[in-house]
Parts: sequence; C-alpha cells; structure tokens
Amino acid sequence: MIEKKIVGEKAVEFIKDGMTVGLGTGSTVYYTIMKLGQLMKEGLSIKGVPTSIQTEQLANECGIPLVTFKEINHIDVTIDGADEVDPQLSLIKGGGGALLREKIIARAAKSFIVVADPAKMVDYLGAFPLPIEVVPFGVEMTNKQIRLLGAETKIRSANNGPYKSDNGNYIIDAKFPNILDPVTLEQKLNMIPGVVENGLFNQMADAVITLNADKQIVVKN
Ligand code: A5P
Repeated sequence: MIEKKIVGEKAVEFIKDGMTVGLGTGSTVYYTIMKLGQLMKEGLSIKGVPTSIQTEQLANECGIPLVTFKEINHIDVTIDGADEVDPQLSLIKGGGGALLREKIIARAAKSFIVVADPAKMVDYLGAFPLPIEVVPFGVEMTNKQIRLLGAETKIRSANNGPYKSDNGNYIIDAKFPNILDPVTLEQKLNMIPGVVENGLFNQMADAVITLNADKQIVVKN
C-alpha cells in the first residue's frame, strides 16, 4: 500500500548518525527499516533494537547492526506502526502479536515516533480488537476476567493451535465497545493476574506520521 511506504519512509528523517534506534514490527515500519538499510549503504551509522524476531531478521537482511539492552543505556528513537490512533495519540498495537516487546522498546526510547496510514486514524479506539498478551497457564480464567470488563474475546489461533508470541505467551483479542477511557482500561487490564501486557499505548507517542485527506504528509504531536 503506497500510503504505508510514504509514511514509513518519512520517519527516517527522525534518525541521525550514531543513534540507537528501536525498530518496530509490521508492514508500515517495514518501509522505514528498508530505507534505513539503504541509507546505511550510503554512510549512515546506526544500531537497532528489534521489537520482534521478524524485525530482527529484516534488520539482518538490511545490514543494520543490532544491540540488546545489556549493551545500551537507552534508545534514542523508536519507530513503530499502530493498528489505531485516536486524537490524543493513544494507540492500539499488537495486531502482529509483538506488543510486549514493542511497549518495552517504546518506553525505553527518548522519542517514540508512530507511522500510520490514514485508515488507522480513528475518533475512538476499539473498532480494532485490543490484543492482550497473557501467560498460557490459566488462560481460560484470564479470559473470563477480561470479559468481565465488557469485552467479547477470542484466543488468537494459528496453525491448528493457539498463536504464540515471541515470548511464548498467548494473545487474547478483546473487542470492547468504543474505548472512552483508554488510560483506565490499560491499567485495569494489567491488574488481571495472567495478563502480561495489553496493546493500549497511552501518552507514549511523541509524534504520529500520517497523511491528510489531500494525501499530504502530516506529523501530529
Ligand atoms: C505489531 O504487533 C503491531 O503493533 C504493529 O505495529 C501494528 O499491527 C501495525 O502494523 P501494520 O504497520 O502492518 O499495519
């Protein structure tokens, strides 16, 4: 999709020589990573911290050297996609199942930049089912507790079994009605025993790169 390429490539303008960069997961930030790989061939020097095994493989293919948290104190900029973005720049993430590492790596960054095609921009979060990472033990109970908060839920499946995240956990996709108070919901979900993390990213994005109705690039912050 051309919109994903345009916003994904625009994000490299936030990256300067010598930076440590959090590398998100998904089909939009794919274009950011590809472009960074191209810029590195032209002399840019950066290090990356990948948010998933998929992104680790892509970064390796692009020649971006990777580091772990053992080797660094902070990340300069993290760039990642989103499944939904509301006017306060709260996000739903985790459609690709990488939300836990994505949240750790977004939080570790001095600056968190989101790349989102215009279809992701919504008035209220919630049309996209909220991904919630849970430990496999007691998943039926954890699922019930999530439902008590008002969601219809599905344990994500893949290849005749439950989908497993890079961390070996399950994902529950929870369809809430319009999420009017994402800050409270994020906290309530993380209080449920068995929930590792949820895909609500509140007060984290410093800027969202998207396109307006005239297909012009806009940076919202
Ligand atoms: C991965 O787990 C997600 O958080 C992605 O960042 C999100 O799903 C956006 O993906 P696309 O850029 O592929 O739409």
